[in-house]
Amino acid sequence: MAAVKYINNDLHLESTPITQLAKAVGTPFYCYSSQILETNFADYKLHFGAEPNLICYAVKSNSNQAIISRLAALGAGADVVSEGELRRALLAGIPASKIVFSGVGKTAQEIEFALSQNILQFNVESEPELELINRLALDRGTRAPVAFRINPDIDADTHAKISTGKAGDKFGIPWADAEKSYAKAASLAGIHVQGVDMHIGSQLTNLDPLERALRRMATLTANLKTKGHTISVLDIGGGLGIPYDKGMSVPGIEDYAALTKKVLGPFNCRIIVEPGRSLVGEAGFLITRVTHVKECDHRNMLIVDAGMNDLIRPSFYDAYHEIIPVTLTHADEKSYQIVGPVCETADTFGRNRVIQTQTAGDLIAIKSAGAYGAVMSSTYNTRPLAAEILVEGDHFRIIRPRQSYDELIGLDSPDSPWQISS
Ligand code: LLP
Repeated sequence: MAAVKYINNDLHLESTPITQLAKAVGTPFYCYSSQILETNFADYKLHFGAEPNLICYAVKSNSNQAIISRLAALGAGADVVSEGELRRALLAGIPASKIVFSGVGKTAQEIEFALSQNILQFNVESEPELELINRLALDRGTRAPVAFRINPDIDADTHAKISTGKAGDKFGIPWADAEKSYAKAASLAGIHVQGVDMHIGSQLTNLDPLERALRRMATLTANLKTKGHTISVLDIGGGLGIPYDKGMSVPGIEDYAALTKKVLGPFNCRIIVEPGRSLVGEAGFLITRVTHVKECDHRNMLIVDAGMNDLIRPSFYDAYHEIIPVTLTHADEKSYQIVGPVCETADTFGRNRVIQTQTAGDLIAIKSAGAYGAVMSSTYNTRPLAAEILVEGDHFRIIRPRQSYDELIGLDSPDSPWQISS
């Protein structure tokens, strides 16, 4: 991507040298390209179409306020899965009328808050949840706009931990129960049924499972219409993959949109799509510095100052992230195990990675870390949350400073008063 290139041997994000960012905030840190983010969003808008269709950014993929407000300014809606995410989206300027609320475990408090804000749609995943929403809506004297998330029982052909549309997964209403759930919803005075929703998984690298799921959605929609239900919204979820590995090919946003139009176009419904990774994944990098180079049983270990607490994807999903030097020295290449400082063998970013010979103090960039990177970080091993930076041309903005030790340790309250429990 043109927004990421070496200029005079130094890796630049847009026109900003990464070495300058490291000087400003130290390491490790995340940095994001506004240009890549905006180009990806423009692609979604171009191919899925603006109003009445809606691109609801999956806030869970990267919930920094600066990223959400960038997308808000471009007209994005939001897909949220907690009160926290809903509050973030609203604060970032996304109107409630463009927010859908997904998730299997919405609590009464979260539903009440969402009702008080008049959000666009609840994506309902079970009958008990439907009944709770109905009761809370009636208490407020209102009707909750609802779509059922249907589990189409399709194997999404992705990592088992991020596949969500197979029978037996915790998500959605089982395919066989779908029509029954719609019939029930139609009888509830606090519910306004408006749509059908699905999301079969993430990092989808081929369109076949999506096509099968969309066809099931089309069948259901046709049946529901025949039975007299008014369906005006079809929410197809997110899930489009990105090429983590240089050699990998993934479907484009254009193909994804064309497929959706082909299968769902005849219904003349508003289409909602909930992309996360495909908007923000390739826009982000995790930059880390080599702390030590150590030889271990004939292996070269590159020990860096980012850990699995900063980016958990490689240890949690065995995910591959390309790793490149920040400054090219044209030294010979060597094969390395690239590992963090956390006290677990899982704390490994890459095995047998051939890159230019490294020495302590060198900077390396872990690519495609914009989605499910910073948001999944923790302070394990009492390591402060990394800084985050947004780049635009030759400007940058620190959108989250590195957490200080005082902030981190200060969260504990060891001297709070004892309370009587009975
Ligand atoms: N909509 C719903 C209801 C979702 O559950 C998700 C992601 C999305 C949309 C956005 O999916 P995307 O376009 O980003 O694929 N932490 C994992 C990914 C978990 C995805 C969870 N749901 C990872 O690092 O691969």
